[in-house]
Parts: sequence; C-alpha cells; structure tokens
Amino acid sequence: SRAISPDFTKCGPVDLPPHAITPPYCCPNLPIPFKFIDFKDYIIANNNNSSRSSGAIIRVRRAAHLVDDEFIAKLEKGISMMKSLPNDDPRNFIQQAKVHCAYCNGGYPQKHPFQDQKIDVHRSWLFFPFHRLYIFFFERILGNLIGDPNFALPYWNWDSIQGMQIPSYFTTPNSSSLFHKLRNYKHMPPQLVDLNYDILSPKIRTQDQQVSYNLAFMYKQMVLANTKELFMGSPYRLGDSAQPGPGSVEFAPHNTIHDWLGGVDTPNHEDMGTFYTAARDPIFYVHHSNVDRLWELWTKLEGGRRDYRDDPDWLDSEFFFYDENLNLVRVKVSTVVKRPKKMRSKEEKEQEEEVLVI
Ligand code: C2O
Repeated sequence: SRAISPDFTKCGPVDLPPHAITPPYCCPNLPIPFKFIDFKDYIIANNNNSSRSSGAIIRVRRAAHLVDDEFIAKLEKGISMMKSLPNDDPRNFIQQAKVHCAYCNGGYPQKHPFQDQKIDVHRSWLFFPFHRLYIFFFERILGNLIGDPNFALPYWNWDSIQGMQIPSYFTTPNSSSLFHKLRNYKHMPPQLVDLNYDILSPKIRTQDQQVSYNLAFMYKQMVLANTKELFMGSPYRLGDSAQPGPGSVEFAPHNTIHDWLGGVDTPNHEDMGTFYTAARDPIFYVHHSNVDRLWELWTKLEGGRRDYRDDPDWLDSEFFFYDENLNLVRVKVSTVVKRPKKMRSKEEKEQEEEVLVI
C-alpha cells in the first residue's frame, strides 16, 4: 500500500513563513512509554462503557447563526476550559492548535523509506479527511470537558445569506473565550465575507452584489466541480512530494476565508491567515465544521458524486490524535467515510455506530 502515514515519534521543527511571531515548536508530547490505540479498539472499548448502553451517541451540528444563548454559553465555556488546562495537556487549546501546525507545516516525516518527504495535509486529497478527523477529536474533547456527550460544533454557514458574516458571539471582546484579537478588524459584522477574497486586491462590493457574487461562487465551487479530482484535490501517496493540488472548496472559500480573517498588522496575517497559527483562533473550528459539511453535501449532489472512497491508499492514510481521555489514537481515513459495502469489515460496521448527523 502507498497510504500516507506520519512517523509520529519523529516530529521535528516545522517550516515557517518569514518573521513568524510565535515559537516554531509544534510537536506534541509523546506518551511515555510510547503507545497508542487503534481507533477500532477504541470504539469497541467505548461501546462497552456503560454510558453508551442506551445506544449510539449522536451529535447534531447546527448552523452557527441559528443556535440559542444556552448553546453559545456552552461553547464559550468549553473553549475557556480548554484554554485554562495546563500547557502540556494535549487537550489544552494551544496544544490543539499545534496539532494543526505540525500536520500542516511539515512537522512529520513520512514513514520509512521516505523520511525525506514531509507530510502536509493541505492541497491534496488528504485535506477533507484530515480536517474531519481533527475537528472530530476536538469536538469530543470539548463535549467531554463540559459534560455533554452529545455536544456538536456549530458550522459557520458562510454559504447561506444569513451566515455571510462572522457569528457575532465570536466578536464580543469582554473576556469571551470565543473572541480573538489577531483578526482583520475591517471584517467584523456587519461586513459580509467575500468567499473569493483576494488578499492582494480586495474588491469593493455593495451588500447585494456581495451576496449574489458569493452564491454564484458557491455554485461554481460545489456544483461545477463535478469530479473527485476537481473537488477533493489530487491523489497524494506515500513517497509523493507534498501539495500535489488542492480541490475547489479548499482553494476557495476555505483558503480565502482564512485570508479574509487574518490580522492586518501581523507579518503573515496571523492567526487565521497562515497555517502555523490558524487554529489558535476559535473561529477555525466552526469554519472547518462548515467545510466538513460541504464535503458531505457534495457527495450527495445530483444523485451522488464519487470521492476517493474506493481507493485503498486514500482510505488507509492515517493520523494520530489525542482523545478526550488523553489516549493517543491512530485513525484511518476509512473511519470517517463510508466505504463501498463490499469493502467493509466487521469492525467498520461496528464503527458506524459513531454517527455524524449533518
Ligand atoms: Cu488546515 Cu483551514 O486549514
């Protein structure tokens, strides 16, 4: 198999843009002695746990502009708890942000004999599944800290008219854990997002023009991108060099919203505007919750579109994450996509208990 797998114990300094503003070290602490569990064993263990005896846990993600005050308070509390955990706790908010930094800025070499190639989860077919897994664990940690097993991240629904500004509860200073200083102050509500924002020459549009532009742009990126190569990005296998080519939605609105939100006075538009710091802004996770949703919607367009789920190299690509119980978990792409029926193993059928409802 030529599936990508990081050599997790060999994490090293990441590649940074010039004048980076925070220290370059993004590697997680390793369990001593080094050990990890495979996701399938993890699910079986969880299923035996009495808290699950009443059936599968279902997390329903809701649009960020439609949630109520009680939900916002929970989200705020969870992020604030993550921020106040000890610095070296893998569930700590900055530690979580570093997970993204290490996978996105070349912290991990590929496994033997391709150690010379570094792993990058952007601009290839790994983009959607990596970020799905990343926020999957983030969401579990958050739910666990606030004691709500059904907690689900909201999605910042920037593809709908009502969702085209930053949800206001991310922009109220007064010590909210959802507020973040390093952002473009010109893009706070009621400013509408430009889904195809060009950071070098931003366009001036009226609100109506921006709405029509955005809707037409979504149609282009979602509906007209009608092959897996166009939508998911290019194949990326063991031994390949990084970033073979991004898919439509990754390129924009995903990247463009990162640029749109990043600070104006920081050298690389930190935090959202550059990968090594992006996940330090809480908005990152609701942005990616929407990206995750768009992947799901795309596969269902016009009677079903094929992503790479019949390619074993894609399905067997794997990553490591810490879970809510501080276990290091090794997890494959196949865990979060449904394989064609004939390829599914018994374990995979059991894993389907873990349902993501969108
Ligand atoms: Cu790994 Cu929105 O980026």
